[in-house]
Amino acid sequence: MNKMVTITVDGARIETPEGMNVLEAALEAGICIPNLCYIPSVTPLGACRVCIVEVVQNGRSKMTASCTLEAKEGMVIRAHSEDIIRARRNIVELLLAEAPNSRAIQDLAARVGVTRVRYPMRNNSCVLCGRCVRVCDEIWQSKSLGFVGRGRNRHVALPFNKRPEFCKRCNACIDLCPMTITPCPGPMKEPAVCGLCGSQLSMAEDTPDTCVWCELGRGFQCARWQLKGVLNTT
Ligand code: SF4
Ligand code: SF4
Ligand code: FES
Repeated sequence: MNKMVTITVDGARIETPEGMNVLEAALEAGICIPNLCYIPSVTPLGACRVCIVEVVQNGRSKMTASCTLEAKEGMVIRAHSEDIIRARRNIVELLLAEAPNSRAIQDLAARVGVTRVRYPMRNNSCVLCGRCVRVCDEIWQSKSLGFVGRGRNRHVALPFNKRPEFCKRCNACIDLCPMTITPCPGPMKEPAVCGLCGSQLSMAEDTPDTCVWCELGRGFQCARWQLKGVLNTT
């Protein structure tokens, strides 16, 4: 078993196994750090930067993604300082400009308080979060998807642009993609009351009866899952 270390996040002392990433440690302790490309139990990629935090050391601070930051003894983290809130809003604003029609990103934007988009709208079909690639590789051991190209040409592709034989047809790549993810349908398949992952509505402290704590929400770290017992939000 890993040695336990103590870190401080927004003033709260958290005991966590050494080496666990700071995002996971904070979420497990009930401190909600918004995130997008992170998937529990899958190697973090640090692609979206939404989970950005400040690491404070010797009176100075450095901003970094918390999902790729390993917890070390005595680490002091600010996850909701004014600078971080501003930087995170800017990151989400850029994501929204890239994918203004993504429900997941719209909800994330509402949640972190983005009220306008100052960047040119692009309407991309992919924000390069790598959720599909990693879930395919690590959960389904399929490697049916991968990144190809560089810079603005970088995108996710199938080998030879054809679904390979070894694709398990699990649809996890679609279910976990922020461009296609849909709100939880609610238990009666009626319009969702709570499943608007990360929306203002789902910030209500009481979980509506209609929330079924769906696995889709857990996989995507929807606001309900993240806020289970948590009041510290952006
Ligand atoms: S449907 Fe195929 S490509 Fe998509 S995650 Fe499953 S195995 Fe991978
Ligand atoms: S296709 Fe979807 S899940 Fe895959 S990298 Fe692009 S936005 Fe992320
Ligand atoms: S969730 Fe950490 S960089 Fe995307």
